[in-house]
Amino acid sequence: MASISSLGDLRGRRVLVRSDLNVPLDGARITDDGRIRAAVPTISALAAAGARVVVVAHLGRPKGAPDPAYSLAPVAARLSELLGAPVAFASDTVGPSAHSVVDALVDGGVALLENVRFNAGETSKDDAERGAFAAELASLGDAFVSDGFGVVHRKQASVYDVALLLPHAMGSLVEAEISVLRRLTEAPERPYVVVLGGSKVSDKLAVIDNLLEKADTLVIGGGMVFTFLAAQGHGVGSSLLESDQIPVCAEYLKRAEASGVRILLPTDIVVAPAFAADSPATVVAADAIPDDQMGLDIGPESAAAFGAAIRDGRTVFWNGPMGVFEFEAFSAGTRAVAQALTEVDGLSVVGGGDSAAAVRQLGFADSAFGHISTGGGASLEYLEGKTLPGIDVLKD
Ligand code: 3PG
Repeated sequence: MASISSLGDLRGRRVLVRSDLNVPLDGARITDDGRIRAAVPTISALAAAGARVVVVAHLGRPKGAPDPAYSLAPVAARLSELLGAPVAFASDTVGPSAHSVVDALVDGGVALLENVRFNAGETSKDDAERGAFAAELASLGDAFVSDGFGVVHRKQASVYDVALLLPHAMGSLVEAEISVLRRLTEAPERPYVVVLGGSKVSDKLAVIDNLLEKADTLVIGGGMVFTFLAAQGHGVGSSLLESDQIPVCAEYLKRAEASGVRILLPTDIVVAPAFAADSPATVVAADAIPDDQMGLDIGPESAAAFGAAIRDGRTVFWNGPMGVFEFEAFSAGTRAVAQALTEVDGLSVVGGGDSAAAVRQLGFADSAFGHISTGGGASLEYLEGKTLPGIDVLKD
């Protein structure tokens, strides 16, 4: 796949860059700017090469029409601070504002278009509708650089279709992400340990299925663990449970045993009567969760066992918190897992926007990990062995 240098001399050319600037916001306040920081090197490099840089990005999941709650305006301000240069913000994506902002760009200047998902064509399942919107986007550029790793698993106009219309290349962030993920999928140094958490087991089934062939140890925590505990025949009180997935989890436990893959489940759980920061927490055995309590974190014994398994690994991938880390009383499990990842003698990868935000919120530095991926869904789909449309389209 071609990198930016393949596009030739960029001076004076308009370059559309798809970045993933989908950051968590509290009102207009950005609570974790990791994705904006990760987007800066490619944007800076293009500007330094004299391109007129037109950044295309989404925020959240608006319903295909303008919605001020999902405006990229706060992101434009932060991007400008991080670049140390002005960022001209267009108040629409392909309308009059976008055209006048792009027309006014000087060589080395940077513009950010409003949320690309304010247009129904961006996420449409209809190829023609998506293609028509991509053509409007393409009219704002002379070349396209794909650098939004977090969205490359989406077949969307600004990720996929626009690459069919313009000379294209892969940005340095996508390049770096793919090269790390390749190390996880092609001959990982062993033991290869994968730690999965988060609330929904159904989101992770395909990756578990695939990893049962590849990983040495699968460590499972977070809300999804209760479906596994139920599959072992234990009561889970009022914890999160996806009853329809119990048979699938039971089958995975059997397959793991047959293939010699170790699945590590928690042996103790921090429970509380309600989902609230101040709900009184107690630690119980994982096979003795009281009916009126819900599990909100893994317990200390489990945190120690998970930490030991992680530190034993030479390649470790982690996606999804172990508990409700946003509440101090239920954050110890996630903290212990993050700490263990920082102590891995080998490659440690934190996969995903949410997990990345979690480690930063818990006070860990990015540099403590081998790699922090900007893509949660994208990195999981890569590990599942799926074709990522936004990567595949760059291959010609
Ligand atoms: C993400 O947050 O994982 C990416 O920005 C993709 O967002 P999406 O899941 O709404 O497509």
